[in-house]
Amino acid sequence: MPKIVIMPSILAADMGRLADECRRAEAAGSDALHVDIMDGHFVPNLSMGPDVVKMARAAVKIPLDTHLMVTHPQNLTGAFIKAGANPLLIHVEAQCDLRAVLHDIRKQQVRAGLTLNPETPVEALWPFLADVDEVLFMSVHPGFGGQSFIPQVLPKVAALRRRMPELDISIDGGINRTSTIAAAEHGVNMFVAGTYLFSAPDMAAEIAHMRQSIIAAYGKKVA
Ligand code: DX5
Ligand code: ZN
Repeated sequence: MPKIVIMPSILAADMGRLADECRRAEAAGSDALHVDIMDGHFVPNLSMGPDVVKMARAAVKIPLDTHLMVTHPQNLTGAFIKAGANPLLIHVEAQCDLRAVLHDIRKQQVRAGLTLNPETPVEALWPFLADVDEVLFMSVHPGFGGQSFIPQVLPKVAALRRRMPELDISIDGGINRTSTIAAAEHGVNMFVAGTYLFSAPDMAAEIAHMRQSIIAAYGKKVA
């Protein structure tokens, strides 16, 4: 199976102590941090900008998986890459030349990813499979943490996993102990979790528990 990656989403961290929260997540055994960027247009909310990525880059050594929920990513990728974003993910629903933006990200030695909203068919990915290092399935409607997992996205995950046995496939939204298992069974190897991990009494124990359940469940519902 592809490498398991567990990524706390710092959207759910204590914003008053964000650098400490990044370090706490790294010390708990996270493989990367997930950073949610919202423009108030693609989604009805605002979150963070390149300066937060720069702060996180200085605080921790693990990768910063940066998720651009923005309408016009072509205007922003440079600033995020300069700040330390890697991988950098754009949405398949964004208004831009997707292939050109993905190529531009890769040209700068940064991993490029495509993200799909829950209602977007998986077929939207097929033209871009050679252009991505990671695919992120949204399992909630993007814009806010703390929502419930939408299980209807799981057949899309399995369809991509059947086609791409080695691709990094991540899932984002409503991940907890139960949905982690369902996602792993359908072929997810990278897990974003905000509320669940940052509110856990012992983040390290919870990450270790996730890792064990992912290994046990991985791929069981792909065939
Ligand atoms: C939602 C974001 C998610 C969010 C997940 O728009 O893309 O990354 O942080 O939060 P939880 O894990 O609380 O659903
Ligand atoms: Zn996200």
